[in-house]
Amino acid sequence: MIQAFHVYKQYDRESCALSDVTVHVNKGEFCFLTGPSGAGKTTFLKLVFREELPSQGQIIVGGRNVTAIPDGQIPLLRRSIGVVFQDFKLLKRRTILENVAFVLKILTVSSKEQKRRAFTALKSVGLHHKMHAYPLQLSGGEQQRVAIARALINDPMLLLADEPTGNLDPDMTMEIMTLFQEVNSRGTTVLVATHDREMIQRLGKRVIALEKGRVVTE
Ligand SMILES: Nc1ncnc2c1ncn2[C@@H]1O[C@H](COP(=O)(O)OP(=O)(O)O)[C@@H](O)[C@H]1O
Ligand SMILES: [Mg+2]
Repeated sequence: MIQAFHVYKQYDRESCALSDVTVHVNKGEFCFLTGPSGAGKTTFLKLVFREELPSQGQIIVGGRNVTAIPDGQIPLLRRSIGVVFQDFKLLKRRTILENVAFVLKILTVSSKEQKRRAFTALKSVGLHHKMHAYPLQLSGGEQQRVAIARALINDPMLLLADEPTGNLDPDMTMEIMTLFQEVNSRGTTVLVATHDREMIQRLGKRVIALEKGRVVTE
């Protein structure tokens, strides 16, 4: 699903955010990307998502060379990738159904179809019964589940999560991890960046560890 070959990323002349990173994540896999703050985790996810371009090297995502695709094809690529961040930004004045459906407004999807798909996505994270609630009426873990539903609405082949449980307590963290495992068991490849070693150990999945921009263990 993700094949990175000798990837380098330099934001400025002095330092290298990623150095000679070669990693493969197989289709259907659930994998962690770990390492201390500044190791390059977020940078790697941004390259996969084509938010940044590598300084050197190639990245193939779902068979497409994302380092070479023309700008016009970036939206198509992004529709096939769901992304979840630590600071899940939900619109406070919109219901959670609207928050999830919102993503589809930029696409040409009818209003009825938007609601139907948003409902299905909320159902997959177990929050359809709260679809008319507003974000602030939900717990932090529930809000993060809404953000995950939003990431899942286009039925992505790949789900990227960047420190998705950084602000959550241990119980909610496990709840989110269980949800990622369910998403994974339905066929989506999942890559989670985190520095939470305890959580990684509890889940027992493959770990790609970065340190100062280099892969140190697989
Ligand atoms: N937009 C940017 N401009 C300049 N340097 C950056 C930028 N983003 C990240 N960096 C640097 O790249 C390195 C890796 O950062 P990052 O990928 O955010 O690591 P992590 O997510 O593992 O904490 C850090 O040294 C960071 O300061
Ligand atoms: Mg980061």
